[in-house]
Amino acid sequence: MPRTIAVMTALLIAASSAAVAADVPPQRQAELRYLLKHDCGSCHGMRLEGGLGPALTARRLAPYGVDFLALTIIQGRPGTPMPPWRPFISEPEAQWLATQLKQGIRP
Ligand code: HEC
Repeated sequence: MPRTIAVMTALLIAASSAAVAADVPPQRQAELRYLLKHDCGSCHGMRLEGGLGPALTARRLAPYGVDFLALTIIQGRPGTPMPPWRPFISEPEAQWLATQLKQGIRP
């Protein structure tokens, strides 16, 4: 019985992360890539290798979870120059961006 629950949980997690990717249509993904280069890049570097803000490379972000990074994008970091992006980026979009960053996207 517990085994069945574990399998079901794993399936649910797989299904929900697939849903996150599906929530961001290709057109919007292109806009978010543009934003990543021009807006995020102004602080994190054009190639996201760091500037005023830290590098956002896959290697550097490896210790952090997608949820934590998505929250940072949505809420910003009060007391630092990292602004909240809530007015421009939805939560599924922030999840998508965080996933892309962890997978090593370079604008
Ligand atoms: C005005 C400058 C600025 C802009 C624009 C900016 N950031 Fe940041 N960002 C920062 C700074 C500074 C930090 C480090 C905050 C700290 O000290 O914890 C940061 C932290 C982060 C982190 C957490 C990294 C870590 O190591 O904890 C992520 C993820 C991130 N930014 C993503 C983005 C994304 C995505 C965008 C564009 C939508 C963006 N940032 C735009 C300045 C900026």
